[in-house]
Amino acid sequence: MRRHSIAVIPGDGIGIEVIEAGKQALQALAEKSGELDFAFTDFPWSSRHYREHGHYIPDGGLAELATFDAIYFGAVGSQDVPDHVSLWDLRLAICQGFDQYANVRPARVLPGVNSRLQGADRIDWVIIRENSEGEYSGNGGRVHRGLPDEIGTEVSIFSRKGVERIHRFAFDMARSRSRKKLTLVTKSNAQRHGMVLWDEVFFEVARDYPDVETDRELVDAVTTRMVLKPDTLDTVVATNLHADIISDLAAALTGSLGIAPTANLNPQRTFPSMFEPIHGSAFDIAGQGIANPVGAFWTAVMMLEHLGETTAAERLMAAIERLTQTGVHSQDLGGTATTSELTQALCDDIRRQAT
Ligand code: NAI
Ligand code: MG
Repeated sequence: MRRHSIAVIPGDGIGIEVIEAGKQALQALAEKSGELDFAFTDFPWSSRHYREHGHYIPDGGLAELATFDAIYFGAVGSQDVPDHVSLWDLRLAICQGFDQYANVRPARVLPGVNSRLQGADRIDWVIIRENSEGEYSGNGGRVHRGLPDEIGTEVSIFSRKGVERIHRFAFDMARSRSRKKLTLVTKSNAQRHGMVLWDEVFFEVARDYPDVETDRELVDAVTTRMVLKPDTLDTVVATNLHADIISDLAAALTGSLGIAPTANLNPQRTFPSMFEPIHGSAFDIAGQGIANPVGAFWTAVMMLEHLGETTAAERLMAAIERLTQTGVHSQDLGGTATTSELTQALCDDIRRQAT
């Protein structure tokens, strides 16, 4: 029996609903396999916990989390806590604390999903987001608070070490895919220091990957290319801010924010990696039981791949595709199915399949 310890942080809003759905899917896979087991430990770190206790992560919490094989995360964000507090005190505290510098975001139109974009069936992208520095390094400050001459600075940090390791990761990813094509996304015409370093290091690293085809695009231009010529892109590498934005666009182009998964990887495995659907806590639909769980299911596929459970990952991805193919969808995709109906359908399908 192969046993994986999973720290579960459902967080807020629909994070709680979709992570419960994902756990059921993983449980169904484990039962089906008979050789695989998940030991889930739930952590109640949420905005409610913050209001009651004054913190998201208690003292010693990160050290405890560090002992798990992987972290399965929902979403954090509440109307009662400023977003910069919830994000930095929970999600970014884990990403930065565990040096999860590579954020991987696949985008593909699943069978039966209606993208409004022409040619979307040819979308098969992996966006690699630098996840530890850049525009979200947290470097900056505010002075003269409340006065007319108040100033706020937000300083992007690009270190050679940080840039090189994400480019190497992106080249390895591009090399592992059939098209072996990597697009560098940047804004080095307007931002002439850190972004130029970003570009230079990219082409230095490229020399070690002669089999990978490269091209480059400015971030504003890449948004039009994603919409107008989606099949010209394959693997994309971009900074923390730029990739945050273009990966939400990628999710919308492939049908819904409710589908898209992501992995926050510590590739050296010095700390556990964290897996989460890319959507947030969705105040508008939270508590109604209608959130799309597909993003959480696909996220579980990425977690299984990271844990080396290739067969289970393939089995779950195939079940997700059969589910979307049936045309039974949640409301974000134009359907009426509830989270639990979709989860039940997926788990039944996993149980029915031949081993
Ligand atoms: P959001 O992703 O929560 O929602 C955007 C829109 O997409 C909403 O209309 C929502 O109903 C819809 N949507 C998202 N996921 C869905 C799903 N699984 N099924 C059906 N519809 C879905 O983004 P928003 O509204 O900007 O943020 C809400 C809160 O979530 C904020 O506090 C924000 O800071 C937080 N947030 C947290 C993230 C994280 O924990 N990684 C990521 C994004 C936002
Ligand atoms: Mg985002």
